[in-house]
Amino acid sequence: MSIKITSLEESKRGSCPKEYGFGTVFSDHMFTQDYDQKQGWHDAEINPYHNLSLDPTAAVLHYGQEIFEGLKAYHRADGQINLFRPEANCERFNLSAKRMVMPAVDVNQHLEAMHKLINLDKNWVPKTANGSSLYIRPTMIATSSKIGLGAAAQYKHFILTMPAGPYFAGGFNPISVYIADTYRRAVVGGVGEAKTGGNYAASLFISEEVAKKGYTQVLWLDAIEGRYVEEVGAMNICFVYEGSRIVTPSLSGSILRGITRDSILKLAPTLGYDMTEEQLDIHQILSDIASGKITEVFGCGTAAVISPVGKLCLKGKVYEVNGNKSGPVSKHLYDQLTGIQYGTVEDAFGWTQLLKS
Ligand code: PLP
Ligand code: COI
Repeated sequence: MSIKITSLEESKRGSCPKEYGFGTVFSDHMFTQDYDQKQGWHDAEINPYHNLSLDPTAAVLHYGQEIFEGLKAYHRADGQINLFRPEANCERFNLSAKRMVMPAVDVNQHLEAMHKLINLDKNWVPKTANGSSLYIRPTMIATSSKIGLGAAAQYKHFILTMPAGPYFAGGFNPISVYIADTYRRAVVGGVGEAKTGGNYAASLFISEEVAKKGYTQVLWLDAIEGRYVEEVGAMNICFVYEGSRIVTPSLSGSILRGITRDSILKLAPTLGYDMTEEQLDIHQILSDIASGKITEVFGCGTAAVISPVGKLCLKGKVYEVNGNKSGPVSKHLYDQLTGIQYGTVEDAFGWTQLLKS
């Protein structure tokens, strides 16, 4: 793919500011390309960050035909930059595209676009290793002007990047989780496995309600029986039994196939933990928390990496985990995984890719 690059003149370029939080400050440039049935993907370009121009009838604005991804680039101590599992991320982008009847992107071309974009905006990759990184947001939207319902014929694929600090304001401090007892996120056969905007829009109502009660995230149960644990907010979830055995819900068809989850499934056994995927009944889980068999609970995802859960609430009853403190297993996994990401721990899995210059 040839990418036409129009960059900002040096004097107008910015760099990673001192304060950036998560997802509020964006790097100087963005990648875009367009799709139609005649030309396929075309007009691949990197330009200064800009607004998009869309017809008000663009299909994405009416029927939500949209997918996105999230992955990160990390500054290594030796000055080089690591991308974490970018192929796996792009493959999931294409799985989401298939489910939402959108065209696949070529994995190599998508990776090339990311490498070129990050190279141009290298100054935006945070240099402090305290949980900071460059968050990369590939997105695809249906752009056809079409009010009749049906798959669009035209699409735009774009990639943005942004410096990102810890996803939760409290950093590695435990979050509190409210178990959704009446609202559901996704159903088997639906689009829960796809990373599509509607899943997130659907989660906002209850998230806002529980935020008023002081809860940071919502834990979702399966939509059919309202009994099996699915995932938590923008993360998958893991439970630690007696400090040594880790369980995570098996992929049900309505859970996002988290790349962090998959990394932990592969990493944990090499660190001496027994780790399995199981169908997990929330009542058993809560009873195991109450009896102290479950010693830690944590969420895992790209934005948050690993986030300990200190409290779960179901129908007003609160279950505290490990005295609402983070525990050793979450910390061990966090240190090892972020060590691989920042290049301070050997990457025996081949997950990291050095940024090509
Ligand atoms: N589940 C949901 C709903 C998410 O949005 C995310 C974040 O991407 C995850 C799980 C974790 O996935 P990953 O580890 O690939 O970021
Ligand atoms: C990610 O971890 O990439 C996410 O999807 C988080 C996002 C919803 C902010």
